[in-house]
Amino acid sequence: MDSARPHERPTAFDRMLTPVHRWIWSDTDRRVQKLLRFSETETDGGRDILRAAEVTSDPLLRRLYLEHAIDEFRHGVLFRHRAAELLKVSAGRSSPGFHGEWLAPGGHGLDDLQVDSESDIDMLAFLHLSEKAAASRFTVYRDVMQHDPPTRAVFEEILHDENFHMNYTLTQLARVEPKRHKRHLWRARLSRLWRAYLRLATGLAGILGSMLLTIQYFVLLPLFAWLAKRAARREPSGWTIVAAETSQSLDRQY
Ligand SMILES: [Fe+2]
Ligand SMILES: [Fe+2]
Repeated sequence: MDSARPHERPTAFDRMLTPVHRWIWSDTDRRVQKLLRFSETETDGGRDILRAAEVTSDPLLRRLYLEHAIDEFRHGVLFRHRAAELLKVSAGRSSPGFHGEWLAPGGHGLDDLQVDSESDIDMLAFLHLSEKAAASRFTVYRDVMQHDPPTRAVFEEILHDENFHMNYTLTQLARVEPKRHKRHLWRARLSRLWRAYLRLATGLAGILGSMLLTIQYFVLLPLFAWLAKRAARREPSGWTIVAAETSQSLDRQY
């Protein structure tokens, strides 16, 4: 797809994180893992948009969604091929460590979308914001990729499409809902913020849970182990003689 409009500039937040992105993408193994993850995200996004093309009753939107879905599938293939090329170079090595997934996320965040229950208006508002976020992040990823021109070229090519997606969704939103499209954009923005908050809260809860369990393991467990050992030392060892008057008959159950 082609875009006649200017490209999206990265948000201040994405620009601020440029040094972090540069570090994340500097490692070849980490780059392979991230490209593979991006490939999955793009393909999943393409599947959702294909479903949106099936359920919309607007012929123009159906055609645009189909082209959009084809683009996203192609992005998935581009990322996967580039990851495979890099994998050949770094064959045999693996990096199971930190990949900065939450710091350098993939494409669109379309996993938040319930395609079957969304109206065309909500779908377009959500898609516009998702594509805008993807274009902003991919601009930064492209800019920090000077050390890897082929990967940079992949981002450059995909960015071109993401800008088109961002622009056509806004144009179509204004066509479908000329008067209140800004209100729908704000509603979609708030919904994305709420989901981002939930994701952050879930992540923080996981970190806090791990910290509490670690503290329990190193602080509470030794204390109970010491108390158990002390109690064990007080116990007489071997058989203990029981006084005759306290012993019960073994002939009955109670
Ligand atoms: Fe894409
Ligand atoms: Fe896109």
